[in-house]
Amino acid sequence: MKRLRILFVCLGNICRSPAAEAVFRRLVDKAGLSDRIEIDSAGTYGGHAGELPDPRMRAAAFRRGYELTHRARPIREEDFNRFDRILVMDDSNYERVHRLAPSRRHAEKIDRMIAFCKTDRTYVPDPYYEGHEGFELVLDLLEEGCAALLEEVRREL
Ligand code: 4NP
Repeated sequence: MKRLRILFVCLGNICRSPAAEAVFRRLVDKAGLSDRIEIDSAGTYGGHAGELPDPRMRAAAFRRGYELTHRARPIREEDFNRFDRILVMDDSNYERVHRLAPSRRHAEKIDRMIAFCKTDRTYVPDPYYEGHEGFELVLDLLEEGCAALLEEVRREL
């Protein structure tokens, strides 16, 4: 039985990517695909390694029924072998992850999360220095994008 592994990546791995992980996991669970799709998240910056997601992100997510329990970790070279798809949140993430990719084949696994959203935005904005609305916007984008991502991914299974 084919399995797929999906990695979400942002800068600190304490706001956007752990939220994406939780949003996608709920959709995958609802679709009955949790034994076929493995989900994780990581950051390009390791300064928050070991931490739970930012309390503002956890609170905003909790209001929508998501519990964020991921512990932050930096992306590692072996992630390019382990994961089939790597979804980044913004251009800076894209560039850093691209630079880490061991080969062109590995780099082809990288995509922008925003490509799965119907919006004029070109990236999922970093909410870290924003107010409450920034976190809601991130969750809105991720809920839309994760649904579209799942539609694409399930065709690959
Ligand atoms: P994230 O947000 O990349 O969505 O997890 C940030 C988290 C931490 C920092 C910046 C963005 N920081 O500068 O520590």
